[in-house]
Amino acid sequence: MNKKLPGPNSKKVIDKMRRYAYDSTFMYPLVIANGQDCVIEDLDGNRFLDFTSNIGACPIGYSHPDVIEVLTEYSTNGTHKIAGQDFYSKEHAELAETLSTILPRNFKSFFINSGAEAVENAIKIAYRKMGPLPGVSCLGAFHGRTLGALSFTFSKPVHKYNFPELPVKRIKFCTRDDDPEIDAIEGILKENKVAFILTEVVQGEGGYNVASKKFIKNLRKFATQYGIPLILDEVQSGIGHTGRWWAFEHYDITPDIMSAAKALQVGAAMYNKRLEPADRSALSSTWGGGSRIDMAVGARTIRVIKRDKLLENAARMGSMLKKGLEELAGRKGVVDVRGLGLMIGLEFDTRVRREKKIAELFKSGLLVLGAGQKSLRIIPPLVITREQIEQGLSIMTQVLSRN
Ligand SMILES: Cc1ncc(COP(=O)(O)O)c(C=O)c1O
Repeated sequence: MNKKLPGPNSKKVIDKMRRYAYDSTFMYPLVIANGQDCVIEDLDGNRFLDFTSNIGACPIGYSHPDVIEVLTEYSTNGTHKIAGQDFYSKEHAELAETLSTILPRNFKSFFINSGAEAVENAIKIAYRKMGPLPGVSCLGAFHGRTLGALSFTFSKPVHKYNFPELPVKRIKFCTRDDDPEIDAIEGILKENKVAFILTEVVQGEGGYNVASKKFIKNLRKFATQYGIPLILDEVQSGIGHTGRWWAFEHYDITPDIMSAAKALQVGAAMYNKRLEPADRSALSSTWGGGSRIDMAVGARTIRVIKRDKLLENAARMGSMLKKGLEELAGRKGVVDVRGLGLMIGLEFDTRVRREKKIAELFKSGLLVLGAGQKSLRIIPPLVITREQIEQGLSIMTQVLSRN
């Protein structure tokens, strides 16, 4: 590891970024050059163990031989970027077919570029059926930053300040079955006509908060009782990070509409066929599905997860990691450890300590990110090994045992 971070090559890029581009949510001065497995290399040859999987977007790690094979197949094909909702492609059909093998029965998909667009198309499907009524979403939710999705996001004021909103009713995201607000949804549905209920099952950006069983079951129960579509946003949790394909599988329910992106490589709104808009062009986009390469990598990713039993690995490695992190609870400002599978949140007593520890972990060669006000988010690639978990835990133990 280069002692001085950023190294000179990285620094040049960061300076250029600050000069010519919007300085967005960059956490630390990492300029990614390449990666192998669960290790990311920066432009100066420094190597970092990656406990972020790029917020879940790289579930099978970096330079996976299956992904390289797909990329090689397309290396001489110049028709990778097509107007994918105007022209058919084999990759689109194959991704939809492969995805259907892990979706609830009777679901179909619509592909789009990003997570926010996946959510927006999910809510458009609900509006088309129900009309332009308010939607229900949760405090602490993150559903994306485009204006529609942003209306239902409620995790940090900086995301929303001075931006207009679609009509929304908010409920508390309950993480305990005995929360006094666990039945609040019933009151809202009794008093208001609404178009949909939208929630994550594990809040991502909001702090890796895991919904209580009763909370999700209640949303399902009352959505069915009042005839309202339940939309689950699995953009961050979907495709294996919780040890199951979808986080909702831990709750024995199925949604009516879902959104995915990140690990899938493309955005997707997925819906029960009975909610499909009757008119063909209600949903579309020039770059829907990203590109033929993204869709091919997405389908291959699902096949690799199945073939290599990576859900089982995520569950096993997640439980080992959580157990190790729980030993840090109570020490030096660590106030909580929570999560499902390989989606683990570690909460500090103060935001300042959280920021300091993220920077120190980075300098010690471990990548993690912040979430919520005071938490760390840990979401390693599903291919992570026991040795890498031990290595990460050892770095965390050292860094988190200091003041
Ligand atoms: C649950 C959830 N929904 C939506 C989004 C938005 O996805 P994107 O950043 O691809 O627009 C995110 C991104 O972090 C997310 O975590």
